[in-house]
Amino acid sequence: MQFSKSFVCHAVYFFSLFLAASAFTYERIDKNNTVLLVVDHQEGLYQMARDMPAVEMKANILAHAALGKVFNLPVVMTTSADTGPNGPLIEEIVKMHPDAPFIHRHGEVDAWDNADFRAAVEATGKKQVILAGITTDVCTAFLALSLKAAGYSVYANSDASGTFDIKTAQDANDRMRAAGIQVLSMFAVALELMRDWRNTPGTPEMMPFFDQYLPEYGMLARGHDAAFLNGTISGLNTTLDTQYPV
Ligand SMILES: *[C@@H]1O[C@H](CO)[C@@H](O)[C@H](O)[C@H]1NC(C)=O
Ligand SMILES: *[C@@H]1O[C@H](CO)[C@@H](O)[C@H](O)[C@H]1NC(C)=O
Ligand SMILES: *[C@@H]1O[C@H](CO)[C@@H](O)[C@H](O)[C@H]1NC(C)=O
Repeated sequence: MQFSKSFVCHAVYFFSLFLAASAFTYERIDKNNTVLLVVDHQEGLYQMARDMPAVEMKANILAHAALGKVFNLPVVMTTSADTGPNGPLIEEIVKMHPDAPFIHRHGEVDAWDNADFRAAVEATGKKQVILAGITTDVCTAFLALSLKAAGYSVYANSDASGTFDIKTAQDANDRMRAAGIQVLSMFAVALELMRDWRNTPGTPEMMPFFDQYLPEYGMLARGHDAAFLNGTISGLNTTLDTQYPV
């Protein structure tokens, strides 16, 4: 009796684990079905993004916009009160996407509250949205939550979103995750879009992209190429019997 009771309990436990595992579906970013949103990456707001070093923040913001170019994604840009202290959209982004719809909001904090912005996103016909903004907790999170509620699959590029401090960023990212929004890095967004180095865009397009926006990866590739073309052995001998005793 005791045995069979415990057996039933275990069976129920493993069945529920199975259900939990099979309930997950991995919805990958599909470059054919995604729109990229640039949200309030404004010169004034940039001063408030302090959860990341400023140089890295700028590279990540520009990389976010550049993904639209590399993958030829529809891009929609928006700003909040850009004639006031929030300031204009960072100029490099405007130059990168001169023909993209650019909605200047005059009051709405959540971009989804603006009818022109909604119309611009809807006009793309895409069902997945990649977005980033300043600040993470307001501009990114409010819009991400509204998009999710409207039925979109939402991918928040956390590297290109900034806010006052790490705690605020974590709280905002937790809030989005709780709503089923995927929060991921710029590197993850880029490679999920690419999927395979043999695709187009693939190695020839993405290596220069990383060289510009993710220099640790670019330098790794440069070092590899230098060694391959004209390298000499460093002197490090990885044969085990030459290692220092541990
Ligand atoms: C996107 O569309 C192209 C051309 O139709 C196709 O070859 C490719 O597999 C599609 N990519 C994805 C991720 O579905
Ligand atoms: C190859 O490396 C040597 C030094 O290790 C250097 O003198 C030479 O100029 C390099 N050649 C090229 C083509 O870079
Ligand atoms: C590494 O050390 C081993 C053992 O001393 C030696 O046999 C081998 O030739 C060395 N390899 C290189 C690349 O220097």
